[in-house]
Amino acid sequence: MSSDFPLRLGLPEPFPIIRNFLESSGYTEEFLRSHFHLPSIHFLLYPYGLQAEYLNKKYEEGDSLPLFLARLFIAGRTYDRPALEERLTSPVVAALEQLGLLIPGDTAGLRCPVIVYPALGVFVASDRGFRPEGPGYRGKDYVMSGTEHICRQFIAHISRAPCKTFLDMGTGSGLAALLATKFSEQVWAVDITPRAASYAGFNRLLNGAQNLTVLEGDLFTPVRGLSFDRIASNPPFEPPLKDGMIFSVGGEDGEAIIKRLVTEIPPYLNPGGRLYCQVCGTDRENESFDERILSWLGEARSEFDAVLFVRLTLPPNEYAIQQMLGENQDSWKLQEWNMFYHKLKATQVVIGHLILQKRASVRPTFTARRNFGPVTTQKEIEWLLDWETQCAGPDFADRLLESRPRPGLGWELHVRHGLQEGKLTPLGYTFFTTYPFETNLHVASWMAMLVSRCDGKATAAGHYQFFASRMTLSKEEYLRALGALIGADFLRIDGFEPPASPEAAAQ
Ligand SMILES: C[S@@+](CC[C@H](N)C(=O)[O-])C[C@H]1O[C@@H](n2cnc3c(N)ncnc32)[C@H](O)[C@@H]1O
Repeated sequence: MSSDFPLRLGLPEPFPIIRNFLESSGYTEEFLRSHFHLPSIHFLLYPYGLQAEYLNKKYEEGDSLPLFLARLFIAGRTYDRPALEERLTSPVVAALEQLGLLIPGDTAGLRCPVIVYPALGVFVASDRGFRPEGPGYRGKDYVMSGTEHICRQFIAHISRAPCKTFLDMGTGSGLAALLATKFSEQVWAVDITPRAASYAGFNRLLNGAQNLTVLEGDLFTPVRGLSFDRIASNPPFEPPLKDGMIFSVGGEDGEAIIKRLVTEIPPYLNPGGRLYCQVCGTDRENESFDERILSWLGEARSEFDAVLFVRLTLPPNEYAIQQMLGENQDSWKLQEWNMFYHKLKATQVVIGHLILQKRASVRPTFTARRNFGPVTTQKEIEWLLDWETQCAGPDFADRLLESRPRPGLGWELHVRHGLQEGKLTPLGYTFFTTYPFETNLHVASWMAMLVSRCDGKATAAGHYQFFASRMTLSKEEYLRALGALIGADFLRIDGFEPPASPEAAAQ
């Protein structure tokens, strides 16, 4: 356990007393968001604005129990014992004191040294970034809350399909692991810092998660010999130009921890298992981010499918400015950031989700890179993975040839024209859509014609005969093209429609 970890894990009895009290108190994420009119409770937990003041001074009127708890557990306000016992009852106050969740305040009374908040249906304790009178914990091993936008994106894109074994790598406060205990039979959570492992262990007891094991150590070292159906990770990936916090800096080029994770993962995934990883890296002059990720797999490359879902790309200079503004860095630092990206030959910073899938049987593997559209969710991600996995499977060519494709919804075909020998002539065809992913698919003219002929009545085999009798077109090339059109929803076939309702997809 971290030597200066502020809480106590040794006593089992107080945890259920506190859990039962919190569960019946009305202290929910929904309450906090709606009461304070916030899009996310993240804005309550961090010292970006005047949150402490907000929590302390505003909304005094009608001091309900959940509001009282917000001021105690989030704002860090000191209360005297009689007031606490009146609102929480004596046994709950005693239990909170036993675990270190209430300690003597700076003035007479008691205060909470960490933050405790409801998140996605569980309760989480993590480091207090601010206190009413000033900054909170400032160590390099600061444990973030998991309510940050990027953490929520990470969690939102992990599959919740039931599985047997799940590993949360770099667990921090343990939020993703706690949520996984609801759909996975056994869950492991690993973190390199004793402080994070202590918080995750504390939160395990606070939520009574019997099927969660928390371990401390460097990447896979603590789980050597085990393997998992699903591994999730939101690793540190910032360049070392930032503040040097363990949760944020990803080694010398920012990608070093992701690289180690990908390099070391092969024996830790079961066949058919997947890694869901939040990533940030760079496309470089001679190598895209996804190409580099594949190279990290080394000899295991032939066993893995890889899809990079890109949420955002930014010119390095713009990314640097955003990060500097976020940390209030001096403007002269920009030159250091620019030198850093110049040395890497970075052309753009790429932020997104990486999914690696270990194939379940011997078959060709696939790789893809897709851009998020405005309404892309985890469902569309799973749909694409399933589609690509089916395409790579045996017998799929026959099933595809028997299908009766029809047009997808909401796409456009952009035709580029130019003058050729004095005549306006089509030079290029590009299908465009924003659902399920934002896609610009440059196609040959026959593919544009194929889509226009697909009416849901004729089979794909029939369409092949039509084209093969008029041009040189191998069946493999035809099936690849058909697969690409269906995988971007320019065409649809029965049983593989994308998840959104047709109306949502067409918007
Ligand atoms: C960006 S934080 C994510 C925390 C949490 N998963 C979340 O989403 O809120 C990255 C976490 O990885 C941990 N970490 C960093 N390097 C690690 C390593 N080599 N092995 C295991 N954990 C590591 C950090 O301590 C930190 O808790």
